[in-house]
Amino acid sequence: MVRPLSPDPCSLKPGRGAVGLYIHLPFCASRCAYCTFVTSTELGLLPRTISALCRELDLMGSRSGRPLATLYLGGGTPSLVPGGLLRQVFQALDRHFPRLPATEVTLEANPDDVTPERASAWADLGINRVSVGVQAFCDPVLAMLNRRHTAVQAREAVELLQRARFAVSVDLMLGLPGMSGGDLKATVSEVLRLRPGHVSVYLLEMDKPHALGRMAARRPDLFPDADAAAQQYLAVGRALVGAGYRHYEVSNYALPGELARHNLRYWRRRPVLSAGLAAHGQSGRRRWAAPDELPAYLEAVERGRLPRSWSSGLGEQEVLRERVMLGLRLSRGVREELVQACMAEAPAFREKMEDFLALRLARRSGDRVRLTPRGWLVSNELFAALW
Ligand SMILES: C[S@@+](CC[C@H](N)C(=O)[O-])C[C@H]1O[C@@H](n2cnc3c(N)ncnc32)[C@H](O)[C@@H]1O
Ligand code: SF4
Repeated sequence: MVRPLSPDPCSLKPGRGAVGLYIHLPFCASRCAYCTFVTSTELGLLPRTISALCRELDLMGSRSGRPLATLYLGGGTPSLVPGGLLRQVFQALDRHFPRLPATEVTLEANPDDVTPERASAWADLGINRVSVGVQAFCDPVLAMLNRRHTAVQAREAVELLQRARFAVSVDLMLGLPGMSGGDLKATVSEVLRLRPGHVSVYLLEMDKPHALGRMAARRPDLFPDADAAAQQYLAVGRALVGAGYRHYEVSNYALPGELARHNLRYWRRRPVLSAGLAAHGQSGRRRWAAPDELPAYLEAVERGRLPRSWSSGLGEQEVLRERVMLGLRLSRGVREELVQACMAEAPAFREKMEDFLALRLARRSGDRVRLTPRGWLVSNELFAALW
């Protein structure tokens, strides 16, 4: 059940503890073949959108003003935003959201945007972590994905950011068309050689329409089947864990001390405010999202309103299910008593969970239940039984 709650979390009083803040920067130089994120290639709209974003931050800040534990600039392609416009965003932030010495400030970057000048401007703004969309260290695969960079550019971007002392995260994708076993090995060895502090590994998602989905309908032979993609996921995981990375979440690996603190806030259900087109936020039981159409977003903010396409509150049972689902995404798992409460609540989930335990896709450990890497691969089946 979804029921309305008030007030909007952006009206929470100052001094109630640090929060996370996600800012969506919805522009890209071109559209990648697999991407369904809310983003536009009409770069002429950037200045007006950034002005609206700053206004939104002012609207939020005048009601909240809480210090930031984490700030995440995602997209779209935040690395594409010219320095002057990015500075405006940070000026608006600094008017309302104090940053602490330990605030994690992440910017998503495409390799072709990473230059010494930009890296130095990012560091001057206080950005201390860069998440680089590498996808694969293999040029024919990158070309098929319509990426704008080569494997060499991706390697050089990571090296430049490491020399500039950013914490670096690398995104990889699996289940891609035309990626041979050799390409995958080359990608993994390049990652291990570069040794970024954090690696995200995503299996190609096909649930929303995109160009690769249409290609898969025409040329299924170019794509690994589900078993082969699963083998890729397990093999990459073994290689990263063997090299000292901790597989701490379904899609995420980190060296000690390098966990993505912003993303952990979502999985641990901590407050994350949001700003920008289509941005989603959460605080306690409340969830909300901004409109995902630019005209509706601009109109709301330019009229002095917080842009919301919906805002709702979770009921007690939904909170319980969400806790279990998010907890099982993490390697530390979730307290058994919560799993038991969900099993009592949802017979289909009980049945699935029992199957998972019997098949060793899940295991008990102390007072917790965790999924194994093979369990994570099929976790959608388990989570579907919860809703
Ligand atoms: C917001 S996007 C990327 C940020 C940046 N614009 C870039 O492309 O490098 C974050 C990551 O999601 C992953 N991703 C995007 N679409 C995906 C899909 N259909 N299936 C799986 N992973 C996807 C990619 O690894 C991508 O780097
Ligand atoms: S650059 Fe990133 S956000 Fe933009 S289309 Fe490509 S994957 Fe999507």
